Amino acid sequence: MTNPANVITLDGLRKVFQTDEVETHALSDVHLTVARGEYVSISGPSGCGKTTLLSILGLLDTASGGSYVLNGHDVAGLNAAQRARIRNAEIGFIFQAFNLIGDLTVQENVELPLTYRGGIDNAERRARVQEALERVGMAHRMRHYPAQLSGGQQQRVAVARALVGRPALLLADEPTGNLDSRNGEAVMALLDELHKGGATICMVTHDARYAELAQRKVRLFDGRVVDEETFDRLRREDESRLDALIGQRIEVGA
Ligand SMILES: Nc1ncnc2c1ncn2[C@@H]1O[C@H](COP(=O)(O)OP(=O)(O)OP(=O)(O)O)[C@@H](O)[C@H]1O
Ligand SMILES: [Mg+2]
Repeated sequence: MTNPANVITLDGLRKVFQTDEVETHALSDVHLTVARGEYVSISGPSGCGKTTLLSILGLLDTASGGSYVLNGHDVAGLNAAQRARIRNAEIGFIFQAFNLIGDLTVQENVELPLTYRGGIDNAERRARVQEALERVGMAHRMRHYPAQLSGGQQQRVAVARALVGRPALLLADEPTGNLDSRNGEAVMALLDELHKGGATICMVTHDARYAELAQRKVRLFDGRVVDEETFDRLRREDESRLDALIGQRIEVGA
C-alpha cells in the first residue's frame, strides 16, 4: 500500500533510451517518496537524469520499468488522455527557458491551463489569472507580450501560469538557469513562499546555494539516487577523471 500522505511514490523506477547504436540507462532503480507539502531539490552532474526524472514525474514521459504512484494513481495504468487530464489538473511546470507562447499576452499565457480544463466560467478564470499574476508581482504587465518583458519577469509569469490551476505538485527544471542572481533569488523567494502556502515542490538545480534552500536535498548520480557521502565521493572521482582528461589534451596540444 502506498502512503496517502505522499504525492509521489517511485519504486524501482527505470528509464532506458534506445537509439540506433546505444542504450542509455538514464534512470536506474530510483526509489523516492515526496510527502504532501514537501519541498525537494534534485541535483547532480549534467546528464545524470534530472530532466528525465522530472519529465516522468510530470507525466510528459513514461518509465521503462518500476512503478510511479502520483497522488494515489498508479501512472502505469493510465492511457494518454487520462495522463493529460491529470497533468493539467494536478501538475504545474516551470522550465529553464520559460516556455511562454510568444503571440499570446501575459494574461492569455497564464489563462491557458484553465482553458484546457473546462468547468470554470470566464469571470472565475479572469479572477484566478489576476490573483496568480498579483502573487508574482506581474499584474501590471497583463497586456504585454513575452518579448516585451525581461527574463526575470518572463519567469515570474511562468510561475503564475504554473500555479493558476492550483496544482498538487509544482515541478521546476533549473528555474533560475537563465536568470541573473538577483532575478534568480526573486524566483527562489517565490518558490519558498508557495511552499509555505502548502505547495509540494520538486526543483532541479545545478546551484548548490539554491539546492540548500529546499527542505530536503535529493542527489542523483548516473541515474541513481545516492546519499550525500556517496555523492561527494563520486563527484570527486569524476572531477579527477576530468582533470586527467584535460591534462592529456593539453599535453597532446603542446
Ligand atoms: N530523448 C533521448 N534519447 C536518448 N537519450 C536521451 C534522451 N533524453 C535524455 N537522454 C540521455 O539520458 C541521460 C540523462 O539526460 P537528462 O537530460 O535527464 O540529464 P540532466 O541531468 O537533466 O542533465 P543537464 O544537467 O545537462 O540538464 C543523458 O545521458 C542523455 O544523453
Ligand atoms: Mg536537464
